[in-house]
Amino acid sequence: MKNTNPTQTAAWKKLSQLADQRKSQTIQSLFADNSRFEKFSTRFEDILVDYSKNRIDDEVFKSLFELAKETELGEAIEAMFTGAHINQTEDRAVLHTALRNRSNTPVKVDGKDVMPDVNAVLAQMKAFADKINNGEWKGFTGKPIKSLVNIGIGGSDLGPVMVTEALKPYQNESLDIYFVSNVDGTHMAETLKKVDAETTLFFIASKTFTTQETMTNAHTARSWFLDHAKDEAAVAKHFVALSTNAEAVSEFGIDTANMFAFWDWVGGRYSLWSAIGLPIACAIGFDNFEKLLEGAHAVDKHFRETDLESNIPVILALIGIWNTNFLGAASEAILPYDQYMHRFAAYFQQGNMESNGKYVSRNGEKVDYTTGPVIWGEPGTNGQHAFYQLIHQGTHLIPCDFIAPAISHNPVGDHHPKLLSNFFAQTEALMNGKSLDEVKEELAKAGKSEAEISKLAPHKVFEGNRPTNSILVKKVDPYTLGALVAIYEHKIFVQGAIWNIFSFDQWGVELGKVLAKKILPELEGDENVTSHDASTNGLINAYKAMR
Ligand code: F6P
Repeated sequence: MKNTNPTQTAAWKKLSQLADQRKSQTIQSLFADNSRFEKFSTRFEDILVDYSKNRIDDEVFKSLFELAKETELGEAIEAMFTGAHINQTEDRAVLHTALRNRSNTPVKVDGKDVMPDVNAVLAQMKAFADKINNGEWKGFTGKPIKSLVNIGIGGSDLGPVMVTEALKPYQNESLDIYFVSNVDGTHMAETLKKVDAETTLFFIASKTFTTQETMTNAHTARSWFLDHAKDEAAVAKHFVALSTNAEAVSEFGIDTANMFAFWDWVGGRYSLWSAIGLPIACAIGFDNFEKLLEGAHAVDKHFRETDLESNIPVILALIGIWNTNFLGAASEAILPYDQYMHRFAAYFQQGNMESNGKYVSRNGEKVDYTTGPVIWGEPGTNGQHAFYQLIHQGTHLIPCDFIAPAISHNPVGDHHPKLLSNFFAQTEALMNGKSLDEVKEELAKAGKSEAEISKLAPHKVFEGNRPTNSILVKKVDPYTLGALVAIYEHKIFVQGAIWNIFSFDQWGVELGKVLAKKILPELEGDENVTSHDASTNGLINAYKAMR
């Protein structure tokens, strides 16, 4: 990948000028152009992406594509798809796209086609998921499995959680699924209260099989299980491993025949398409898991083959760069108007922030521009009654993605039209706001005196001009969800490529882990701890006195 400081490109300089010139431009005024919606919206199959409610115009848009070209985005995309070691700090390829390569064309990493291995693990996953679904896989007392418990954290948790929640209408009703991620014993204890050892299957999901939280939870689950089964041989019927580390899996006591492999070219936060997706395949059935892969693959083809100007992940990424680097937005909200998608923002919080939360550029120097924004969000309409106040009238500019399905899985009464009326109303309100004149007129109509009007009016004014994207999908089904996730994944890739950072490592999470390991033995015994700064010593010693 090219190593270009984006701020040194002609396009970046042009974009800075354009931003300066457009300080008083409103999105509302841009709609004087009758063709704006057609021009600034696009479709991918059943997904409509409307980005017209952004502070962009033809000139800005053109310069954003110039920026993509000057930073050689096209070459970067090709480098990823063809297995180049673009994760340079870990010397790895980045090939989550191979996991869902339904075209089955060869994908080479260091000269070796990875597709035979990918297909072999998918076949192993299908055979296993089918056995769980048709009740053929039996526990140690001969009963079929009823409860699935995934033990994993970060990328080995959030993807399966998000997808199984989003696709709950597709779940096999005779199965329950639980996720234990936190090393807080409460997470495991509360889960174990709900399941029966005879009918529970544990997935130990860890790329490295060394993560402290996951290994601690896995050992606790194993001890609990053995307390009930009282037979080591029974472990094979109730524990499977999803990992790249066969040695650590067998050391833990899981037969490698019950291991579902993946590879170092699959990043944790991009791994739901790999063996890490086995709990998904078990919960919703392998056919639905395959549809998820197909949706993502269709977007992969779109991303790789479509001109930058019509390329949805590229468009969304460039709008994000415009908002972040030229309009000063520090965060982005993801707001699904779909209760099943309630973990979508949390999933992309890791996806985005672990990928693009970097201040060192690809040439090893500190960047002098903003990189990844803070990602957050909750489902609408709950968010409306919690934090939208700040989005509408706060001092921060918060670009938002609104996502909604046209068809609900639960068409109860008039719930869905009500939900969607809020979805449409919010982006309109964020764009148009409410002027002082409108407020005054309203207050006058309500019979307020001149004095009351001048006191109240400023508080009721909405500046508007807040940028949003609206993503309307026909229905949240496995194929569409796969496509949506791939769109967001590639958006992250495009932004990282242009920001000239390495999006596929995560060194920033290491320091805390190392320090926690050092502190753990210091928590034993009653001796006063003095090896840290005064605050850390004080906290540790207070904890020791309190417990
Ligand atoms: O938090 C850091 C991290 O390495 C994530 O990138 C990853 O998803 C998570 O830990 C879990 O790692 P593993 O799958 O190896 O247990």
